[in-house]
Amino acid sequence: MILVTGGAGFIGSNFVLGWLAQSDEPVINLDKLTYAGNLGNLQALADDPRHVFVKGDICDEKLVAGLLAQYKPRAILNFAAESHVDRSIHGPRDFVITNVNGTFALLEATRAYWADLADADKAAFRFLHVSTDEVYGTLGAEDAPFTETTAYAPNSPYSASKAASDHLVRAYYHTYGLPTLTTNCSNNYGPYHFPEKLIPLIIANARQGKPLPIYGDGQQVRDWLYVSDHCAAIRRVLEAGRPGETYNVGGWNEMANLDVVRILCGILDELAPKAAGSYVDQIVHVADRPGHDRRYAIDARKIERELGWKPVETFETGIRKTVEWYLEHDAWVRDVQSGDYLRWLDTNYSNRDSQPEPGQ
Ligand code: NAD
Ligand code: DAU
Repeated sequence: MILVTGGAGFIGSNFVLGWLAQSDEPVINLDKLTYAGNLGNLQALADDPRHVFVKGDICDEKLVAGLLAQYKPRAILNFAAESHVDRSIHGPRDFVITNVNGTFALLEATRAYWADLADADKAAFRFLHVSTDEVYGTLGAEDAPFTETTAYAPNSPYSASKAASDHLVRAYYHTYGLPTLTTNCSNNYGPYHFPEKLIPLIIANARQGKPLPIYGDGQQVRDWLYVSDHCAAIRRVLEAGRPGETYNVGGWNEMANLDVVRILCGILDELAPKAAGSYVDQIVHVADRPGHDRRYAIDARKIERELGWKPVETFETGIRKTVEWYLEHDAWVRDVQSGDYLRWLDTNYSNRDSQPEPGQ
């Protein structure tokens, strides 16, 4: 079996659902269920004996050691993290605790477990760490996309904490020989994406008649990847990646935020038209994110060349599926818009100046 951490979050739950849709290998799912973790994402597995959910913290080394001794997984996949850049700006502490200390605790428990495995199991074991392109910092408009050899230059408390965790993973391979794999992925989107992040926030706000907040001029560029493509990349790296290596994962789909929001409005105008006017009329520009990275772009040629992975979805197909999913899952959105979520909206948006999009 495999041990997944953070499997009740956005990417983790998509991964667990995808894994068990194509394999009978059981999953132990260790998740603290922070505001971002939601067992509702895994409702389809409620009665499935192949999925064992454990509510717990990756910082709890004893708990992790106990799970490893009990279930003897052949691999650990670490998705658990504090993941939202804006939250890391308002409160970086939890990011260091979970992303740095938590990864360290997980590595320590894994090292002890792995050291006692029989030789064949030791060689086959993998620790796969799910990381981000944000560790590479920001690109200028004409710069080449990030490769696996681009120097780390994280700019937010979130990306700094992910960079630190990547360095620990690297060190455990080089120092102890632990068979680690690291993936650095670009922006994901798709089902179960928490509505604090741009795409689901825009869909939810549009539907609820609220402003659609664009930070600054909206010309910041992200490279979007549909979440099931990311999950397929992780499965492939687990299966065939070379221990000690890192793999960049991206969608070859760079797009400015304002363009993403305009596309979302266009699809919503078509699938869920307002009584009058367009959702575009709800766009407002608000004060920028401090230290906002201008552009991310991933060069994903290594994973394609070495492991034969490339994305299946285009942005056009993926974004339409995503909007359709949100339109069909109003109840999921309402459920996650809890008290904590409302407090977060107040913290992040109430003190930003805002002005309408020119021309609206
Ligand atoms: P998410 O915030 O949606 O989910 C994180 C999950 O981790 C939640 O279920 C939460 O309860 C759990 N968690 C948090 N702290 C924990 C702890 N101390 N112990 C156990 N569980 C804990 O995040 P996501 O967007 O699904 O991201 C998953 C991973 O992928 C993260 O490591 C993130 O850095 C990375 N990543 C995300 C993206 C993206 O676009 N979302 C892109 C690249 C990489
Ligand atoms: O690049 C990978 C990263 O992508 C992951 O490591 C992170 O976990 C994930 O959250 C995501 O980070 P971003 O900061 O790029 O995603 P977010 O959805 O928060 O923002 C996307 C862009 O949209 C970014 O340039 C900020 C902008 N934005 C965001 C929000 C929430 C807005 O303009 N308005 C908003 O209200």
